Amino acid sequence: MAFLPKFSPFTILSLLLLVVGVIVSRAEARPRAFFVFGDSLVDNGNNNYLATTARADAPPYGIDYAPNHRPTGRFSNGYNIPDFISQRLGAESTLPYLSPELTGNKLLVGANFASAGIGILNDTGIQFVNVIRMYRQLEYFQEYQNRVSSLIGASQAKRLVNQSLVLITVGGNDFVNNYYLVPNSARSRQYPLPQYVTYLISEYKKLLQKLYDLGARRVLVTGTGPLGCVPSELAQRGRNGECAAELQQAAELFNPQLEQMLLQLNRKLGKDVFIAANTGKMHNNFVTNPEQFGFITAKVACCGQGPYNGLGLCTPLSNLCPNRAQYAFWDAFHPSQEANRLIVEEIMSGSEAYMNPMNLSTILALDAITT
Ligand SMILES: *[C@@H]1O[C@H](CO)[C@@H](O)[C@H](O)[C@H]1NC(C)=O
Ligand SMILES: *[C@@H]1O[C@H](CO)[C@@H](O)[C@H](O)[C@H]1NC(C)=O
Ligand SMILES: *[C@@H]1O[C@H](CO)[C@@H](O)[C@H](O)[C@H]1NC(C)=O
Repeated sequence: MAFLPKFSPFTILSLLLLVVGVIVSRAEARPRAFFVFGDSLVDNGNNNYLATTARADAPPYGIDYAPNHRPTGRFSNGYNIPDFISQRLGAESTLPYLSPELTGNKLLVGANFASAGIGILNDTGIQFVNVIRMYRQLEYFQEYQNRVSSLIGASQAKRLVNQSLVLITVGGNDFVNNYYLVPNSARSRQYPLPQYVTYLISEYKKLLQKLYDLGARRVLVTGTGPLGCVPSELAQRGRNGECAAELQQAAELFNPQLEQMLLQLNRKLGKDVFIAANTGKMHNNFVTNPEQFGFITAKVACCGQGPYNGLGLCTPLSNLCPNRAQYAFWDAFHPSQEANRLIVEEIMSGSEAYMNPMNLSTILALDAITT
């Protein structure tokens, strides 16, 4: 005769609660959502859906992108910075907001709103015509939240955004594709460089405040890279392989003021919402000491033509290096997959000189306790 245990209603209730508990904690085990804003350094392919010349949808872009080695719209031979951050969150890569695949449960992963060519200012990147400017990226973020609300309800949607991680990378184009785009540009006639930087910082601050108002509570903000040391500038402006001085000066003015602005915002908000990621310093390390990072060069781009492979675009006809992991620069402007990987390593566990007020592993540990 089989032994039939007799369950009291109380036991059944406890079992039920246990099952519910498991389901709830499963749901909570979903990686936090991740949102990305900014320019080509972090665009995952939005520009593929736009009529613009700022695109990376032809080979050899994506040549190392696993698994199918095809262009995705990322300005990299493979992964970019957001991809490596997603991996650290235990999440799949975010889809471009304009991707038709971004529906249903995919929305809960987050979204990438970035668009190559854009800057802090609306007049940056006008030569690329149809790009998603910052104010528009933020409008899309609101639209995204409405879509998620209809999927999981307004309070869950709010919570998802509240507990998410945000990355924003913008500002380099306000120099390269605006102030310094042509000699005597409109902006350079309007402002001397220091005043232009002050203006950029004040406009950037408004965008970040808006991001906070839209619910973002953990926001990684990267500075610009060493603008004057990219292969494009070495080819066009540098003398004997030295970095272009005025663009270096621009980055040296912009990055510390950005960091100060973020800390000031945090003080005003009374919490550490904005985290300064000193990617410029990280990248400068590659430039000054490439061998230490396993690179044979941080001057010559892997893909391109002309001096330093720094002229024109990376196209199927360009020179292409065979050993891509040994190049800090993939094309004339953008870091290689390997450089992106190293940058995210530093974002994850760098000291305060790189990550202020704290690194991403500290953030993840803190938030795991408090939520
Ligand atoms: C950029 O353009 C949008 C839409 O026209 C406008 O709302 C916003 O204020 C502009 N930003 C700046 C800094 O001019
Ligand atoms: C967001 O989360 C924090 C805790 O991390 C909590 O104090 C706050 O009330 C939440 N805000 C919303 C709008 O859910
Ligand atoms: C950054 O992260 C590491 C853990 O990966 C930690 O040991 C270290 O103390 C952190 N540094 C700072 C300055 O927060």
